[in-house]
Amino acid sequence: MAEDKHIEITEKCLDESIDAFFKSAPPLQDLDNITKKLENFVAQHSVHSESQNTKKVVCVTSGGTTVPLERRCVRYIDNFSSGHRGASSTEYFLKAGYMVIFLHRRGTAQPFCRFLPENPILECFEPSDDSGIQVCSPYAEAVKSAIQEHKSAVNSGYFLQLDFTTLFEYLQILQVITLAINRLGAYGMFYLAAAVSDFYVPWDSMTEHKIQSGPGGLAMQLAPVPKMLTLLRKRWAPVAFCVSFKLETDIDILLKKAESARRKYGVHAVVANELSTRKEKVIVVTDQSQTVIEKKGVGMDVEEPLIDFLIKEHAAYTFHQSHFVAKT
Ligand code: PMT
Repeated sequence: MAEDKHIEITEKCLDESIDAFFKSAPPLQDLDNITKKLENFVAQHSVHSESQNTKKVVCVTSGGTTVPLERRCVRYIDNFSSGHRGASSTEYFLKAGYMVIFLHRRGTAQPFCRFLPENPILECFEPSDDSGIQVCSPYAEAVKSAIQEHKSAVNSGYFLQLDFTTLFEYLQILQVITLAINRLGAYGMFYLAAAVSDFYVPWDSMTEHKIQSGPGGLAMQLAPVPKMLTLLRKRWAPVAFCVSFKLETDIDILLKKAESARRKYGVHAVVANELSTRKEKVIVVTDQSQTVIEKKGVGMDVEEPLIDFLIKEHAAYTFHQSHFVAKT
Protein backbone atom coordinates (compact mmCIF):
# COMPACT_ATOMS: atom_id res chain seq x y z
CA MET A 1 0.00 0.00 0.00
CA ALA A 2 2.74 2.42 1.07
CA GLU A 3 4.74 1.34 -1.98
CA ASP A 4 1.77 2.08 -4.31
CA LYS A 5 1.49 5.53 -2.78
CA HIS A 6 5.22 6.11 -3.30
CA ILE A 7 4.98 5.08 -6.98
CA GLU A 8 1.96 7.37 -7.42
CA ILE A 9 3.82 10.36 -5.94
CA THR A 10 6.98 9.63 -7.98
CA GLU A 11 4.92 9.42 -11.18
CA LYS A 12 3.13 12.67 -10.34
CA CYS A 13 6.49 14.45 -9.85
CA LEU A 14 7.75 12.99 -13.12
CA ASP A 15 4.59 14.10 -14.94
CA GLU A 16 4.99 17.61 -13.57
CA SER A 17 8.66 17.89 -14.55
CA ILE A 18 7.95 16.46 -18.00
CA ASP A 19 5.04 18.86 -18.51
CA ALA A 20 7.26 21.74 -17.45
CA PHE A 21 10.03 20.61 -19.81
CA PHE A 22 7.80 20.31 -22.89
CA LYS A 23 5.80 23.46 -22.11
CA SER A 24 8.99 25.46 -21.87
CA ALA A 25 10.60 23.91 -24.98
CA PRO A 26 10.72 26.10 -28.11
CA PRO A 27 8.44 24.62 -30.79
CA LEU A 28 10.21 22.28 -33.20
CA GLN A 29 11.06 24.35 -36.31
CA ASP A 30 10.94 21.52 -38.78
CA LEU A 31 8.02 19.55 -37.34
CA ASP A 32 5.95 19.37 -40.57
CA ASN A 33 8.87 18.13 -42.62
CA ILE A 34 9.88 15.54 -40.00
CA THR A 35 6.31 14.31 -39.69
CA LYS A 36 6.02 14.01 -43.47
CA LYS A 37 9.25 11.99 -43.71
CA LEU A 38 8.07 9.66 -40.95
CA GLU A 39 4.63 9.28 -42.53
CA ASN A 40 6.24 8.27 -45.85
CA PHE A 41 8.51 5.83 -44.08
CA VAL A 42 5.58 4.23 -42.24
CA ALA A 43 3.39 4.18 -45.36
CA GLN A 44 6.08 2.40 -47.37
CA HIS A 45 6.33 -0.34 -44.80
CA SER A 46 2.64 -0.63 -43.99
CA VAL A 47 2.00 -1.91 -47.51
CA HIS A 48 4.68 -4.56 -47.11
CA SER A 49 3.38 -7.99 -46.27
CA GLU A 50 5.36 -8.47 -43.06
CA SER A 51 3.23 -9.16 -40.02
CA GLN A 52 3.68 -7.43 -36.70
CA ASN A 53 6.17 -10.09 -35.58
CA THR A 54 8.41 -10.12 -38.62
CA LYS A 55 8.65 -6.38 -39.24
CA LYS A 56 11.99 -5.35 -37.73
CA VAL A 57 12.37 -1.68 -36.98
CA VAL A 58 14.84 0.18 -34.80
CA CYS A 59 15.33 3.81 -33.84
CA VAL A 60 19.04 4.46 -33.31
CA THR A 61 19.94 7.69 -31.51
CA SER A 62 23.47 9.00 -31.85
CA GLY A 63 25.67 11.95 -30.88
CA GLY A 64 25.38 14.37 -27.99
CA THR A 65 22.67 16.94 -27.28
CA THR A 66 23.50 20.60 -26.67
CA VAL A 67 21.96 22.80 -24.02
CA PRO A 68 21.77 26.42 -25.16
CA LEU A 69 22.54 29.11 -22.61
CA GLU A 70 20.97 31.93 -24.59
CA ARG A 71 17.89 31.95 -26.88
CA ARG A 72 19.93 33.56 -29.67
CA CYS A 73 22.49 30.94 -28.90
CA VAL A 74 26.15 31.89 -28.82
CA ARG A 75 27.16 29.55 -26.02
CA TYR A 76 26.00 26.08 -25.12
CA ILE A 77 26.87 23.06 -22.99
CA ASP A 78 27.63 19.93 -24.98
CA ASN A 79 27.53 16.20 -24.22
CA PHE A 80 30.40 14.13 -25.54
CA SER A 81 29.74 11.65 -28.38
CA SER A 82 31.44 11.34 -31.76
CA GLY A 83 28.45 9.43 -33.13
CA HIS A 84 30.64 6.50 -34.12
CA ARG A 85 28.67 3.97 -32.05
CA GLY A 86 25.34 5.02 -33.56
CA ALA A 87 26.66 5.17 -37.13
CA SER A 88 28.33 1.76 -37.11
CA SER A 89 25.40 0.16 -35.26
CA THR A 90 23.06 1.51 -37.94
CA GLU A 91 25.12 -0.24 -40.63
CA TYR A 92 24.85 -3.58 -38.79
CA PHE A 93 21.11 -3.20 -38.21
CA LEU A 94 20.58 -2.46 -41.91
CA LYS A 95 22.68 -5.49 -42.88
CA ALA A 96 20.47 -7.61 -40.64
CA GLY A 97 17.35 -6.44 -42.51
CA TYR A 98 16.12 -3.86 -40.00
CA MET A 99 14.38 -0.64 -41.01
CA VAL A 100 16.40 2.06 -39.26
CA ILE A 101 15.39 5.54 -38.17
CA PHE A 102 18.74 7.18 -37.44
CA LEU A 103 18.28 10.20 -35.17
CA HIS A 104 21.68 11.84 -34.96
CA ARG A 105 23.38 15.03 -33.91
CA ARG A 106 24.08 17.25 -36.92
CA GLY A 107 27.75 16.98 -37.93
CA THR A 108 28.54 13.71 -36.11
CA ALA A 109 29.54 10.39 -37.73
CA GLN A 110 27.34 9.04 -40.51
CA PRO A 111 26.76 5.42 -41.47
CA PHE A 112 28.92 4.26 -44.41
CA CYS A 113 31.24 7.27 -44.08
CA ARG A 114 33.28 6.04 -41.15
CA PHE A 115 36.31 5.22 -43.28
CA LEU A 116 36.50 8.57 -45.00
CA PRO A 117 38.95 11.22 -43.76
CA GLU A 118 37.76 14.05 -41.53
CA ASN A 119 37.36 16.52 -44.36
CA PRO A 120 36.19 14.32 -47.26
CA ILE A 121 35.55 17.03 -49.86
CA LEU A 122 39.00 18.54 -49.54
CA GLU A 123 40.93 15.32 -48.95
CA CYS A 124 39.19 12.82 -51.27
CA PHE A 125 38.75 14.94 -54.39
CA GLU A 126 41.05 16.89 -56.71
CA PRO A 127 40.63 18.86 -59.92
CA SER A 128 41.14 16.68 -63.02
CA ASP A 129 42.90 17.63 -66.28
CA ASP A 130 39.62 18.25 -68.11
CA SER A 131 38.68 20.87 -65.47
CA GLY A 132 36.31 18.46 -63.75
CA ILE A 133 36.71 16.79 -60.35
CA GLN A 134 38.08 13.32 -59.68
CA VAL A 135 38.51 11.10 -56.62
CA CYS A 136 42.10 10.86 -55.34
CA SER A 137 43.19 7.27 -55.84
CA PRO A 138 43.83 6.26 -52.19
CA TYR A 139 40.20 7.08 -51.39
CA ALA A 140 38.55 5.74 -54.55
CA GLU A 141 37.23 2.53 -52.96
CA ALA A 142 36.10 4.18 -49.72
CA VAL A 143 34.23 6.97 -51.56
CA LYS A 144 32.60 4.56 -54.00
CA SER A 145 31.38 2.17 -51.33
CA ALA A 146 30.16 5.01 -49.05
CA ILE A 147 28.05 6.47 -51.86
CA GLN A 148 26.79 3.10 -53.11
CA GLU A 149 25.84 1.75 -49.70
CA HIS A 150 24.20 5.00 -48.61
CA LYS A 151 22.17 5.28 -51.81
CA SER A 152 21.10 1.66 -51.69
CA ALA A 153 19.98 1.97 -48.04
CA VAL A 154 17.98 5.15 -48.77
CA ASN A 155 16.46 3.78 -52.01
CA SER A 156 15.41 0.55 -50.31
CA GLY A 157 13.22 2.63 -48.01
CA TYR A 158 14.85 0.97 -45.00
CA PHE A 159 16.88 3.97 -43.88
CA LEU A 160 15.61 7.31 -42.65
CA GLN A 161 17.93 10.00 -41.28
CA LEU A 162 16.71 12.75 -38.97
CA ASP A 163 18.90 15.19 -37.12
CA PHE A 164 18.98 17.30 -33.99
CA THR A 165 21.30 19.71 -32.24
CA THR A 166 19.67 20.76 -28.99
CA LEU A 167 18.21 18.72 -26.17
CA PHE A 168 14.81 20.27 -26.97
CA GLU A 169 14.95 19.07 -30.57
CA TYR A 170 16.19 15.61 -29.59
CA LEU A 171 13.39 14.87 -27.14
CA GLN A 172 10.63 16.30 -29.30
CA ILE A 173 11.76 14.36 -32.38
CA LEU A 174 12.17 11.18 -30.33
CA GLN A 175 8.56 11.51 -29.25
CA VAL A 176 7.35 11.93 -32.85
CA ILE A 177 9.36 8.83 -33.82
CA THR A 178 7.70 6.76 -31.11
CA LEU A 179 4.30 7.67 -32.60
CA ALA A 180 5.48 6.53 -36.05
CA ILE A 181 6.89 3.24 -34.76
CA ASN A 182 3.69 2.57 -32.84
CA ARG A 183 1.77 3.15 -36.07
CA LEU A 184 3.91 0.55 -37.84
CA GLY A 185 2.41 -1.94 -35.42
CA ALA A 186 5.72 -3.67 -34.79
CA TYR A 187 7.53 -4.54 -31.59
CA GLY A 188 10.20 -2.02 -32.50
CA MET A 189 13.52 -1.43 -30.82
CA PHE A 190 14.90 1.80 -29.36
CA TYR A 191 18.70 1.83 -29.26
CA LEU A 192 19.48 4.96 -27.30
CA ALA A 193 23.19 5.58 -27.82
CA ALA A 194 22.87 9.39 -27.86
CA ALA A 195 24.51 11.20 -24.97
CA VAL A 196 21.66 13.20 -23.48
CA SER A 197 22.10 16.18 -21.16
CA ASP A 198 21.06 15.76 -17.56
CA PHE A 199 20.76 19.51 -16.90
CA TYR A 200 19.33 22.37 -18.91
CA VAL A 201 18.23 25.99 -18.84
CA PRO A 202 14.43 26.15 -19.17
CA TRP A 203 13.47 28.20 -22.23
CA ASP A 204 11.27 30.59 -20.25
CA SER A 205 14.09 31.51 -17.88
CA MET A 206 16.72 31.76 -20.64
CA THR A 207 18.13 35.13 -21.55
CA GLU A 208 17.38 36.33 -25.10
CA HIS A 209 20.74 37.84 -25.94
CA LYS A 210 24.35 36.84 -25.53
CA ILE A 211 25.37 36.70 -21.88
CA GLN A 212 27.72 39.60 -21.22
CA SER A 213 31.04 39.01 -19.55
CA GLY A 214 31.69 40.81 -16.29
CA PRO A 215 34.16 40.94 -13.44
CA GLY A 216 32.21 38.53 -11.22
CA GLY A 217 32.31 35.43 -13.41
CA LEU A 218 29.15 33.55 -14.34
CA ALA A 219 26.88 31.64 -11.96
CA MET A 220 23.96 29.76 -13.51
CA GLN A 221 21.29 27.52 -12.08
CA LEU A 222 20.56 24.52 -14.31
CA ALA A 223 17.34 22.53 -13.95
CA PRO A 224 17.41 18.70 -14.04
CA VAL A 225 16.17 17.16 -17.29
CA PRO A 226 13.45 14.64 -16.46
CA LYS A 227 14.73 11.13 -17.27
CA MET A 228 12.96 10.44 -20.52
CA LEU A 229 13.66 6.71 -20.40
CA THR A 230 10.80 6.29 -17.95
CA LEU A 231 8.48 8.21 -20.21
CA LEU A 232 9.52 6.25 -23.28
CA ARG A 233 9.04 2.89 -21.54
CA LYS A 234 5.77 3.70 -19.81
CA ARG A 235 3.95 6.09 -22.11
CA TRP A 236 5.51 6.68 -25.50
CA ALA A 237 6.41 3.14 -26.54
CA PRO A 238 5.37 0.64 -23.85
CA VAL A 239 5.63 -2.44 -26.10
CA ALA A 240 8.95 -1.55 -27.71
CA PHE A 241 12.22 -3.29 -26.82
CA CYS A 242 14.29 -0.60 -25.19
CA VAL A 243 18.11 -0.55 -25.04
CA SER A 244 19.75 2.27 -23.12
CA PHE A 245 23.43 3.01 -22.53
CA LYS A 246 25.48 3.72 -19.45
CA LEU A 247 28.71 5.62 -19.87
CA GLU A 248 31.16 6.01 -17.00
CA THR A 249 34.81 6.88 -16.70
CA ASP A 250 35.23 4.85 -13.49
CA ILE A 251 35.06 1.13 -14.30
CA ASP A 252 34.45 0.27 -10.63
CA ILE A 253 31.00 1.85 -10.59
CA LEU A 254 29.96 1.05 -14.19
CA LEU A 255 28.15 -2.25 -13.68
CA LYS A 256 26.43 -1.15 -10.51
CA LYS A 257 25.11 1.96 -12.27
CA ALA A 258 24.03 -0.02 -15.33
CA GLU A 259 22.12 -2.57 -13.26
CA SER A 260 20.49 0.15 -11.23
CA ALA A 261 19.45 2.00 -14.44
CA ARG A 262 17.97 -1.22 -15.83
CA ARG A 263 15.82 -1.71 -12.73
CA LYS A 264 14.89 1.93 -12.29
CA TYR A 265 13.81 2.64 -15.85
CA GLY A 266 12.55 -0.82 -16.75
CA VAL A 267 14.59 -1.01 -19.96
CA HIS A 268 15.21 -4.43 -21.52
CA ALA A 269 18.98 -4.03 -21.81
CA VAL A 270 21.61 -1.56 -20.73
CA VAL A 271 24.85 -1.38 -22.69
CA ALA A 272 27.54 -0.47 -20.15
CA ASN A 273 30.68 1.14 -21.52
CA GLU A 274 33.74 2.85 -20.12
CA LEU A 275 34.93 5.91 -22.01
CA SER A 276 38.49 4.83 -22.88
CA THR A 277 37.65 1.20 -23.83
CA ARG A 278 34.25 1.80 -25.44
CA LYS A 279 35.46 0.84 -28.91
CA GLU A 280 36.87 -2.51 -27.73
CA LYS A 281 34.44 -3.81 -25.16
CA VAL A 282 30.92 -3.34 -23.77
CA ILE A 283 28.85 -5.27 -21.23
CA VAL A 284 25.18 -5.87 -21.90
CA VAL A 285 23.11 -6.02 -18.73
CA THR A 286 19.69 -7.70 -18.94
CA ASP A 287 17.44 -9.21 -16.27
CA GLN A 288 19.02 -12.58 -17.06
CA SER A 289 22.73 -11.88 -17.44
CA GLN A 290 25.72 -9.59 -17.76
CA THR A 291 27.36 -10.43 -21.09
CA VAL A 292 30.81 -9.14 -22.00
CA ILE A 293 31.05 -8.34 -25.70
CA GLU A 294 34.41 -7.66 -27.30
CA LYS A 295 35.44 -6.86 -30.83
CA LYS A 296 36.68 -9.91 -32.71
CA GLY A 297 40.01 -8.56 -33.90
CA VAL A 298 42.04 -5.61 -35.16
CA GLY A 299 40.07 -3.48 -37.61
CA MET A 300 36.77 -5.02 -36.49
CA ASP A 301 33.89 -3.20 -34.76
CA VAL A 302 32.59 -4.08 -31.31
CA GLU A 303 29.19 -3.09 -32.72
CA GLU A 304 29.14 -6.19 -34.94
CA PRO A 305 28.84 -8.75 -32.07
CA LEU A 306 26.86 -6.22 -30.01
CA ILE A 307 24.11 -5.80 -32.62
CA ASP A 308 24.12 -9.54 -33.25
CA PHE A 309 23.48 -10.13 -29.53
CA LEU A 310 20.76 -7.49 -29.27
CA ILE A 311 18.96 -8.74 -32.38
CA LYS A 312 18.69 -12.19 -30.76
CA GLU A 313 17.36 -10.62 -27.55
CA HIS A 314 14.88 -8.57 -29.57
CA ALA A 315 13.69 -11.66 -31.46
CA ALA A 316 13.17 -13.56 -28.21
CA TYR A 317 11.25 -10.59 -26.79
CA THR A 318 9.06 -10.29 -29.90
CA PHE A 319 8.33 -14.02 -29.80
CA HIS A 320 7.38 -13.85 -26.14
CA GLN A 321 5.20 -10.76 -26.60
CA SER A 322 3.32 -12.13 -29.57
CA HIS A 323 2.84 -15.68 -28.30
CA PHE A 324 2.21 -15.16 -24.62
CA VAL A 325 1.45 -11.53 -23.75
CA ALA A 326 -0.77 -10.65 -26.74
CA LYS A 327 -2.94 -13.72 -26.11
CA THR A 328 -3.55 -13.05 -22.42
O1 PMT B 1 29.56 8.33 -29.97
P1 PMT B 1 30.81 7.61 -29.54
O2 PMT B 1 31.99 8.53 -29.46
O3 PMT B 1 31.07 6.37 -30.38
O4 PMT B 1 30.57 7.11 -28.03
C1 PMT B 1 29.48 6.28 -27.74
C2 PMT B 1 28.87 6.64 -26.36
C3 PMT B 1 29.93 6.46 -25.30
C4 PMT B 1 28.36 8.08 -26.36
C5 PMT B 1 27.67 5.64 -26.16
O5 PMT B 1 28.15 4.32 -26.18
C6 PMT B 1 26.94 5.90 -24.83
O6 PMT B 1 27.32 5.42 -23.78
N1 PMT B 1 25.84 6.71 -24.88
C7 PMT B 1 25.06 7.15 -23.69
C8 PMT B 1 25.80 8.26 -22.98
C9 PMT B 1 24.99 8.86 -21.86
O7 PMT B 1 24.37 9.85 -22.00
O8 PMT B 1 24.96 8.15 -20.77
P2 PMT B 1 24.14 8.58 -19.43
O9 PMT B 1 24.61 7.69 -18.39
O10 PMT B 1 24.25 10.05 -19.17
O11 PMT B 1 22.61 8.27 -19.82
C10 PMT B 1 22.14 6.96 -19.78
C11 PMT B 1 20.87 6.78 -20.63
O12 PMT B 1 19.83 7.66 -20.16
C12 PMT B 1 21.10 7.08 -22.10
O13 PMT B 1 20.61 5.97 -22.86
C13 PMT B 1 20.27 8.34 -22.37
O14 PMT B 1 19.62 8.26 -23.64
C14 PMT B 1 19.24 8.34 -21.25
N2 PMT B 1 18.87 9.68 -20.75
C15 PMT B 1 19.83 10.55 -20.34
C16 PMT B 1 19.46 11.79 -19.82
C17 PMT B 1 18.09 12.11 -19.75
N3 PMT B 1 17.69 13.28 -19.28
N4 PMT B 1 17.16 11.24 -20.16
C18 PMT B 1 17.52 10.03 -20.64
O15 PMT B 1 16.65 9.22 -20.97
